[in-house]
Amino acid sequence: MADLPRVTAVCGSLRDDSTTRVALERALDGAAEAGGTGELIDLRHLDLPLFDADDPAAGDAPELTRRVRDADAVVLGTPMYHGSYSSVLKTALDYCGFDEFEQKTVGLLAVSGGRFPITAMDHLRSVCRALDAWVLPYEAAVPQAYRAMSDGEFTDDDLEERVAELGRQTVRYAKIEACPATFESRENVGAED
Ligand SMILES: Cc1cc2nc3c(=O)[nH]c(=O)nc-3n(C[C@H](O)[C@H](O)[C@H](O)COP(=O)(O)O)c2cc1C
Repeated sequence: MADLPRVTAVCGSLRDDSTTRVALERALDGAAEAGGTGELIDLRHLDLPLFDADDPAAGDAPELTRRVRDADAVVLGTPMYHGSYSSVLKTALDYCGFDEFEQKTVGLLAVSGGRFPITAMDHLRSVCRALDAWVLPYEAAVPQAYRAMSDGEFTDDDLEERVAELGRQTVRYAKIEACPATFESRENVGAED
């Protein structure tokens, strides 16, 4: 049991009825279907002040970083906000660095009220590259989330399957061989200890 890939999902929405959280839970079900174990980091339950580089272990940041570090793979889930990912998730990511993400498999998921939230996932992909994470080429989006879900359940089977597949893929590639460092990561002096 000890070697089962551990997948940790981080939810970038604080909304009680968050559709991002519903989608991440389905992705974690997918991880379990592929033989992994999963946990959700619900940022509503962590005290994470806006990141201040003078206090990089503020509040519950040590708990956040420990849980991300302990994972074999991470799923980052965000609502699309103004064409990008949420500030909640950005704050969480700013508390993390190479110790948490270097050579870690990452799956990306974004949810939007409008059409496909491609830019939110692209922006997250750039952040992950700067941290030398290994981001799955496959990604999952839930456009027009108000139509795709009802009462905390998917009503769109195709989107649900795509999200579940993201979870399965994170397990499949959780222990992938390391890649050489990226150009962006060598410039990322802030992510060093
Ligand atoms: C501040 C804010 C900005 C948003 N910007 C966009 C946007 O640029 N494009 C879009 O498609 N939806 C946008 N939305 C809609 C959300 O992406 C959508 O409601 C999503 O389902 C919210 O995720 P949640 O249910 O997990 O909170 C925005 C919502 C908020 C609150």
